[in-house]
Amino acid sequence: DTLSASNIVWHDMAVTKRRRAERNHQKPCIIWFTGLSGAGKSTSANALERQLFGMGYSTYLLDGDNVRHGLCGDLGFSDDHRQENIRRVGEVAKLMVDAGMITLVSFISPFQRDRELVRNMVETGEFIEVFVNTSLDVCEERDPKGLYQKARAGQIQDFTGISSPYEAPERAEIEIDAGDLSVEESVKVLVSHLKRLDVIS
Ligand code: PPS
Repeated sequence: DTLSASNIVWHDMAVTKRRRAERNHQKPCIIWFTGLSGAGKSTSANALERQLFGMGYSTYLLDGDNVRHGLCGDLGFSDDHRQENIRRVGEVAKLMVDAGMITLVSFISPFQRDRELVRNMVETGEFIEVFVNTSLDVCEERDPKGLYQKARAGQIQDFTGISSPYEAPERAEIEIDAGDLSVEESVKVLVSHLKRLDVIS
């Protein structure tokens, strides 16, 4: 069976996750942004990465629009494809944590179950969920890519918030309303939460 992992043996690595983290002087983790299209996920994740990088942390940002050009270029927006999208991104983020990085991830990731799956891939405290809680009204009003207009006109199927569900997180470590805050304010709020959570000092 070429598809199963039955003949594959796990190798323990000589250089461990802990040693890589120590070398980087940081606690590697996944900072997972979830929210509607146009909520401000990419903007806040980008600004936060710039801030953390500037503070000297080793960071990487995985972003939906970019990853869907490569690693997930074969996937669309059905429930099954979104699930596979998030599973792959979760596995990559886990590898990045293993490599010692503070890994920021920005995907709609609309399903609770899929986000929980990623949370359970890593150790307790290594998954920090950031709910970018901008209302559908505000997202649709902004419509930065004109996608809501197309979705309303029936030109895009399975559009999150219109014709496909968004399951809001119930226990996100951090929640921001990017509809109310400037980008600078969002970064300040995020940084103070990350300090509270002992991710950075
Ligand atoms: S998901 O649900 O996590 O797999 O989605 P993600 O990989 O984050 O991709 C979301 C971006 O794809 C564009 N797009 C759509 N979004 C939602 N529904 C449909 N049907 C759709 N078609 C294309 C859209 O630009 C999303 O970008 P953001 O940055 O979230 O606005």
